[in-house]
Amino acid sequence: MSDLNKIALQILSNGKGILAADESTATMTKRLASVKVHSDENNRLLFRQTLFSSLSMKECIGGVILYDETIRQKTTTGETIPELINSSGSLTGIKVDTGAKVLAGSKQEKITEGLDGLRERLRDYYDLGARFTKWRGVYMISEKYPSDLSISANAHALARYAALVQEAGMVPIIEPEVLMDGDHSAKDCLMKTSDVINKCYEELELNNVDLKGTILKPNMILPGKNSGEKISSEEIAELTLDCLKNNVPSSVPGIAFLSGGQTEKEATANLNQINIKNDTNFIMTYSYGRALQQSALKFWSKNINNTNGTQEIFDHRVKMCTLAAQGKWSENLENS
Ligand code: 13P
Repeated sequence: MSDLNKIALQILSNGKGILAADESTATMTKRLASVKVHSDENNRLLFRQTLFSSLSMKECIGGVILYDETIRQKTTTGETIPELINSSGSLTGIKVDTGAKVLAGSKQEKITEGLDGLRERLRDYYDLGARFTKWRGVYMISEKYPSDLSISANAHALARYAALVQEAGMVPIIEPEVLMDGDHSAKDCLMKTSDVINKCYEELELNNVDLKGTILKPNMILPGKNSGEKISSEEIAELTLDCLKNNVPSSVPGIAFLSGGQTEKEATANLNQINIKNDTNFIMTYSYGRALQQSALKFWSKNINNTNGTQEIFDHRVKMCTLAAQGKWSENLENS
């Protein structure tokens, strides 16, 4: 087993998942504004430190993805954030893309940037304690989108990123996110997400990326937010498995879904069904941002020094997701 494969399995095995706490300062400021908390370095640290020192970290969270600001911060007791994360047996990850910018040649789509100087930044992040990384490509969906240009430019960037990350001794999370926004059907989402993922693996192979040392972070197959289509968790699971079985090479050890705007419960119920129906060898788990943090953030905002109360809310959510990652979740556990 290669070292990178070991890292990937350490993050994803036994129902463990990933906490995506890598919101950029601009995004975190929006999240804090939504609960009327001022966004400054100390408040961003306090909320994140509260989550990272929760009890559930040890049993449930295999890795935490950080933003550049957080990986350099220290807790009030003087340990670095990577040290705090490692103390629960979890691994530190880092978002290394520099965001999605307008894609020249396409009117509305985006291309994720951050390849310039990446080799040097990766060395720095490794020294700070990171052992895995994230890069998110983002795709609009409509009748004409994503365009071939967006599919191919983002796949190319993701693959070049992944090759550099493996060269630096870390596991790349490959995140091609087809957005939920729009009035498309779940069938459309299946078709377009399949094209996107398929192209990513074509480019990853061209760039000699060792797939055993990678993690895929895709969207689930869902109807567009404005489509009015209602489908069950069972159907979502079937479509999602269909997409992954047909487009992800079997050497990929695991898949960690993003939540992408689903509620906490939807993201949990859908992951649970995916695991009940999972007839592949892929580990299927979570790499959620909003679907792990929303309730905890709301509660914390009422009294930002209520560490224990906030951790209780977070621990509950994390445990529900870890049960879902084993197909053992059920609705009545939510109220227990
Ligand atoms: P959400 O789960 O909130 O979609 O965030 C996951 C993520 O890391 C997006 O890049």
